Amino acid sequence: MREGMNIPVESIHTALAGFAAQFEPFLAGLLSDRPLSGEIARPRRLMQAMRHGALNGGKRLRPWLACETAGLFGHTGEAVMRVAAAIECVHCYSLIHDDLPAMDDDDLRRGLPTVHKAFDEATAILAGDSLLTLAFDIIAAPQTELPDAVRTALVSSLARAAGAGGMAGGQALDLAAASDNPDESGIITLQAMKTGALIRFSCEAGAITAGAPQADRARLAEFGSAIGLAFQLADDLLDLTGNAETMGKATGKDASAGKATLASLHGADWARTQLDGLVAQSCTLLEPYGESAALLKSAARYIASRDR
Ligand code: IPE
Ligand code: IPE
Ligand code: MG
Ligand code: MG
Ligand code: MG
Repeated sequence: MREGMNIPVESIHTALAGFAAQFEPFLAGLLSDRPLSGEIARPRRLMQAMRHGALNGGKRLRPWLACETAGLFGHTGEAVMRVAAAIECVHCYSLIHDDLPAMDDDDLRRGLPTVHKAFDEATAILAGDSLLTLAFDIIAAPQTELPDAVRTALVSSLARAAGAGGMAGGQALDLAAASDNPDESGIITLQAMKTGALIRFSCEAGAITAGAPQADRARLAEFGSAIGLAFQLADDLLDLTGNAETMGKATGKDASAGKATLASLHGADWARTQLDGLVAQSCTLLEPYGESAALLKSAARYIASRDR
């Protein structure tokens, strides 16, 4: 049997649901109308739009990954929750902007109207800008009780994962893909950037936050890359074959935009075989952590087989 194939997927559903119940109020606390010291005022409608885009039932996979990987090194508590919240703010910003008419032009996200539909385009752009900026504030603030060098490393790595050389750059390549028709290696690069970079950072962030040795940081980053690739491959497969109601977002968008994905290029069976390989590779990377990595292995399996 291949590595990781014997791990039950059910355990991750329970773990993610338990985490989301704890995480939701924590994130809500960071998105209140009350200005922080140094801020002048928080406009109500903008804050409502930010909350609409962030407090709306996402899977919370990235923040869970950050907390779970920190836990491998015995680190738990408020600091890693703040790092996790920062990551989710970046993710939610990316979704708000991804759904805009200038990008994927989507009306539905997480089963609700997208932010530009519920509010308006300008407010959606500003809500995204504000969530991205808030992410760096959350990490850098003294309330994130970590050594200065750790906070600096987190800020710098998150900036690189989210910016032109990471997620935003990947979104640019993704938009160009409809006319550029990238080959297989071009698609892999695009995906490693648009989706992989933030998932990779989420896993590495746990090790950075916990002050883990460089070798562990590199190993978890590699684990994050493998599950990040699997995550987007599964997203593309779901876009091709999934159920829009279960997913809470439209399907068939890649084909209608003329975007080739690995799943559409090689077919669903090929994609499923690739996903099995990526799960096995991810689980092998976690072997040094023994039983304490069991849930992370289950997460790799879940990412590959998810239906939403
Ligand atoms: C969707 O991410 C966007 C991609 C990067 C493919 P998720 O599937 O994690 O979305 P939520 O956070 O659960 O809504
Ligand atoms: C979105 O990819 C990636 C980012 C938001 C960075 P998609 O456009 O495939 O995501 P969905 O399918 O709209 O969730
Ligand atoms: Mg997109
Ligand atoms: Mg989209
Ligand atoms: Mg998609």
